[in-house]
Amino acid sequence: MLQINPETSSPYQWSTVEPIEACRQALHKRPFLLRHNLAGNPIFSVEAFAKVAEAASIRPDDLHMDAGKVRLTDKWGQIPTPDVPVAEVFKHIDTADAWIIMKHVEIDPVYGEFLDNFAAFVRKIAGPEGASMILNPEMLAIVTSPNRKTSFHFDSEINFLVQVQGTKEVWICDPQDRSITTEEELESYYAGNITAGTYKPHAEQAAWHYFLQPGDAVHIPSHACHWVQNHDNVSVSFSLNMEFPAWHQAEVYRFNRYLRKLGIIPNPPGKSWLRDRSKAAAITTVRRTKELLHRPS
Ligand SMILES: [Fe+2]
Repeated sequence: MLQINPETSSPYQWSTVEPIEACRQALHKRPFLLRHNLAGNPIFSVEAFAKVAEAASIRPDDLHMDAGKVRLTDKWGQIPTPDVPVAEVFKHIDTADAWIIMKHVEIDPVYGEFLDNFAAFVRKIAGPEGASMILNPEMLAIVTSPNRKTSFHFDSEINFLVQVQGTKEVWICDPQDRSITTEEELESYYAGNITAGTYKPHAEQAAWHYFLQPGDAVHIPSHACHWVQNHDNVSVSFSLNMEFPAWHQAEVYRFNRYLRKLGIIPNPPGKSWLRDRSKAAAITTVRRTKELLHRPS
């Protein structure tokens, strides 16, 4: 087990459940559990996040909310957005069927320090070599009405879902299972289609299934399809995200999309470092050329 901060005055304590070596092996490949001491801290309460949401609402793209019954097969953007200020949604959160997500919460230095502390913990799990591949930490806060679902999807980020208030269940698939997250979906995702992940019935049998309560957190690897069922309670959770360098996956999938359009079945990233870096360099060159051509002379 790895613990940080037991000897310091930091209010944020994290530990792994499995030995550090097992977590290092599992990072990016399968889920694993962490424990924390954040529950009950007033800076992570519903009331605190109602204020954070108001601040996020004046930044373009940093607040998303929707309300309604959700099926596993629904896609982001299909669920109606409430036509009222976010403060009103918070007032009725226990009956609103709402899902409120605030991005870049770390802009507030209080949460920025918290995120720095967590990112240091993840880098210790990753080890010296793995840590160099983990970039751009971001904190998203998620406040959810009782019984709300988050539908089936995958993300590019290296994610840790942290439960602070309420209980919920989460299902997480193997990120390498190409019958669940397909190569074509990944190529589409990196071309800008963030809802590329499409529900497959066999995912429910194949997924790891976790019950989360305050004090728990679980690693959701990049590209691992997942979905969430909140229990009959208001939930506060965080998505603590990090990114890989663009050359590692994103640019390779963008290049592969071009190859597939030409009728070539592309090699996925991760098989040849040299080939991946060449594809990423080619995509970067194309983008820079386009930018130059569109620059006013
Ligand atoms: Fe997600």
